[in-house]
Amino acid sequence: MSIPIRIAGISFQVPEAVVTNDDLTKILDTSDEWIRTRTGIERRHVLSGDETAVEMGIKAAEKVLKTSKISADKIDFIIAAASVETHAYPSSACEIQAAIGAVNAACFDITAACSGLIYGMGIARALIKSESAKTVLIVATDAVSRCVDWTDRSTCVLFGDGAGAMMLTVSDDDQDDILAVSLKAEGQFGDFIKMPIPGKNCPLVKPNTQEDMFVKMEGKEVYKYVVTKLPVYVEECVEKSGLKMNEIDYLVPHQANMRIIEALEKRLEFNPENVISNIQEYANTSAASIPIALTEAIHSGKIKLPATAILTGFGAGMTVGTTVVRLREGIA
Ligand code: ACO
Repeated sequence: MSIPIRIAGISFQVPEAVVTNDDLTKILDTSDEWIRTRTGIERRHVLSGDETAVEMGIKAAEKVLKTSKISADKIDFIIAAASVETHAYPSSACEIQAAIGAVNAACFDITAACSGLIYGMGIARALIKSESAKTVLIVATDAVSRCVDWTDRSTCVLFGDGAGAMMLTVSDDDQDDILAVSLKAEGQFGDFIKMPIPGKNCPLVKPNTQEDMFVKMEGKEVYKYVVTKLPVYVEECVEKSGLKMNEIDYLVPHQANMRIIEALEKRLEFNPENVISNIQEYANTSAASIPIALTEAIHSGKIKLPATAILTGFGAGMTVGTTVVRLREGIA
């Protein structure tokens, strides 16, 4: 019999510092009107001083330990989904482990950009179903504000920083909260969004060409890719779940662009009331965007529990991750 999985908790953490679209006009040739009408973004939260992505991840993890009522020593794996790492190593997952005292956890990071939480859920689900783990903590934490060129108006206005955490464990009843997961990657479109890691050759050999480490994005290509492919991948995942689209209560998409969210909503014939978006407040927080949107919507009462939901993300790679879930009361 397949082991049923419970989503035991979900949480988020964002930095305090807020940069509005109007603030950006002080350093860029842009306007609140351009950013809002093209993307839906009004503000973003960004790390300040020596704050780090790992610190946000630790705070999100501490919150989810409380809501899930699972003690840190019960965690078998920590998976950190972090495209913008605080350190290449130790991994963000190891740093989070040390801070929360998850002494029995194996730890590793994954890079699936904005699909990171869903990729993490797919891996965690496989670990639990194969009896390699009983409890897995996924922490999605990203600090894209540190890796954008703040003189490039076509990318920097789109991003913010944040973290989200989700606890998965074996159900103590028969209900499986993860009805389906679908993970996709199309590396042939890797040039659409890139963030190079700089590194210098040994001085005894020919020097290498060094790229700066900023996010480079072909915005129009990303847009076309997503509006064409995402609805198809979501429909495939819903079919695998055994539910019909109209039986699913909420759609929680990655928060990259309001126009993409609206296109998805129309194509899937979702009631706009049931499509979760908070892009205006946080912009694109990469892997953290889905857990931030989901948790905040539960807190505000926009999502009423218990419920079913589609979580779907896309990002550099190109990667796409979708899951159909049941959300129980008390998870946030
Ligand atoms: N303010 C004012 N003008 C701007 C700005 C800005 N911030 N940025 C670009 N412009 C200008 C451009 O220079 C261009 O001017 P021109 O016509 O004189 O050359 C004009 O606005 C139009 O630019 P486009 O790039 O064609 O604008 P577009 O309508 O395509 O919108 C956007 C750009 C918002 C980035 C859109 O393409 C988009 O959202 N794409 C998807 C991005 C996305 O989803 N990314 C997810 C990344 S996930 C991850 O893994 C990181």
